[in-house]
Amino acid sequence: MQRRALLGRETERRALAALVEQAASGSGGAVVVRGAPGIGKSALVAEAAARAASRGT
Ligand SMILES: Nc1ncnc2c1ncn2[C@@H]1O[C@H](COP(=O)(O)OP(=O)(O)OP(=O)(O)O)[C@@H](O)[C@H]1O
Ligand SMILES: [Mg+2]
Repeated sequence: MQRRALLGRETERRALAALVEQAASGSGGAVVVRGAPGIGKSALVAEAAARAASRGT
């Protein structure tokens, strides 16, 4: 599936980015992303995962 740039979702993106930083510093965990069908849960998580992967360490 083609990945497009996300619009908005700044609060959620910041929260996930902060959790990625925490995980990178040794404090991992789990996140529940919930919302109505098609609201953008998978897109949000895919973006966070891609950013975490390209971030390294
Ligand atoms: N913030 C956003 N900016 C731009 N496009 C978005 C955004 N959020 C979602 N989309 C687009 O909306 C569509 C549905 O998003 P997505 O598949 O992530 O939703 P979902 O919540 O995971 O759906 P489902 O409940 O079916 O699993 C996709 O085409 C996605 O690219
Ligand atoms: Mg989904």
